[in-house]
Amino acid sequence: MSFADDLIQKAERREVLFGIVGLGYVGLPLAYELTRAGYRVLGYDISRRVVDGLMAGRSHVKDISDQQLQSMLAGDRFVATTEASRLREPDAVSICVPTPLSKFKDPDVSYIVAATNAVRAAVRPGQAVILESTTYPGTTREVMLPALKSTGLTVGQDLFLAFSPERVDPGNVTWTTRNTPKVVGGITPECTRVVTALYQPAIERIVAVSSIETAELVKLLENTFRSVNIGLVNEMAIVCDKLGVDVWEVIDAAATKPFGFMKFTPGPGVGGHCIPVDPHYLAWKMRGLNYKTRFIDLAGELNSEMPHFWVQKVAESLNNDGRAVKGSQVLVLGVAYKKDIEDLRESPALDIIRLLEAQGARVSYHDPWVGRFTEDGVERVSVPLTRQALQAADCVMVVTDHSAIDYGQVREHARMVVDTRNALRRNL
Ligand SMILES: NC(=O)c1ccc[n+]([C@@H]2O[C@H](COP(=O)([O-])OP(=O)(O)OC[C@H]3O[C@@H](n4cnc5c(N)ncnc54)[C@H](O)[C@@H]3O)[C@@H](O)[C@H]2O)c1
Repeated sequence: MSFADDLIQKAERREVLFGIVGLGYVGLPLAYELTRAGYRVLGYDISRRVVDGLMAGRSHVKDISDQQLQSMLAGDRFVATTEASRLREPDAVSICVPTPLSKFKDPDVSYIVAATNAVRAAVRPGQAVILESTTYPGTTREVMLPALKSTGLTVGQDLFLAFSPERVDPGNVTWTTRNTPKVVGGITPECTRVVTALYQPAIERIVAVSSIETAELVKLLENTFRSVNIGLVNEMAIVCDKLGVDVWEVIDAAATKPFGFMKFTPGPGVGGHCIPVDPHYLAWKMRGLNYKTRFIDLAGELNSEMPHFWVQKVAESLNNDGRAVKGSQVLVLGVAYKKDIEDLRESPALDIIRLLEAQGARVSYHDPWVGRFTEDGVERVSVPLTRQALQAADCVMVVTDHSAIDYGQVREHARMVVDTRNALRRNL
């Protein structure tokens, strides 16, 4: 029997051992769904802390509760390890490692390279390898394929390589890894067939595409679409501000159109591991082909300027009250990059705090999800949201509109509020 048919039959019988490389926001929920489908999962992570925590039944990813993790560990459906040599054991390996930007905003695929080398060192005939990390088109073919080919195995026959972008939206309880359709594109049609069959039991709908580059671009289009539309609506917020029109009223009224309009909302900028990062991957790739992605670049600029706009609003509000930013006490509500999660990566709140402090403000923060964090060597601790804390602030700034924040209390006790999310009004 061919390796392809063997893997497909194993998937049908749920006899697949799945390897997951990188057990973070993406890898752990994927591991959970694979175990739910009846597979066994071997998780590999270079972080001893992550592996030890998981093996002790403690989840570090909010979307997977300790109970869910413990149900995976029970019955030996899941095991986590730091031993790369164990990557020889799985039938399929999904790579879910970070793809950040370098200091100069270029793609940093060093994690993908390291993960590929670990897989390559342990690879055996009959395995499938799937890249899940968001990256520029061409990465799988240009970075992973040569490494795997150098083992002497024939991809599409002895070994199967595909790209399948993770679409997880942390904190979203409606759309999870299982019910969000999953795009799969293989190096060869046989690779697509095998990987589709492997994921089918765990994911409700698989969308097979004709090439690996298509699959890579799907993810970049999705996130660039968000970045561009957020950029547009942020610009609309600035336009409305200058015209003295309420942007939220404009958006809500526009959203009554039943077709041809999709509602996006302005805010303090964009954050997280995807929207501020992924479009740069595409722009970088295209620069190498002598093409400047104007739309993408402009959206990135607009979004990254929003913290300046909001800090200016704080300055104007304080000024109207006869005060300067310098020496004023500003209480920032919410520092996570979006509501109801603990993730601080690329959060615009960090820029806002930095900008306010650069102007001499004394900044404290409250975030029900982020008890403490260290940035630029400074450790900060969330202050309790009390009447005293609100009254002591010259200005309260709503940056992230967590559901757990008591806006009634904010409305009642704050002297001045700059609300980047319209949270106070929506909460009326
Ligand atoms: N977080 C999201 O919302 C999201 C959504 C969709 C796609 N993505 C993409 O998925 C990828 C992973 O993101 P994430 O948020 O899960 O990252 P993460 O930082 O939460 O997790 C990555 C994990 O990989 C581990 N790791 C790093 N190098 C490794 C290596 N060489 N071998 C084994 N493990 C290694 C880290 O220790 C960490 O535990 C990124 O490309 C990201 O763009 C993320």
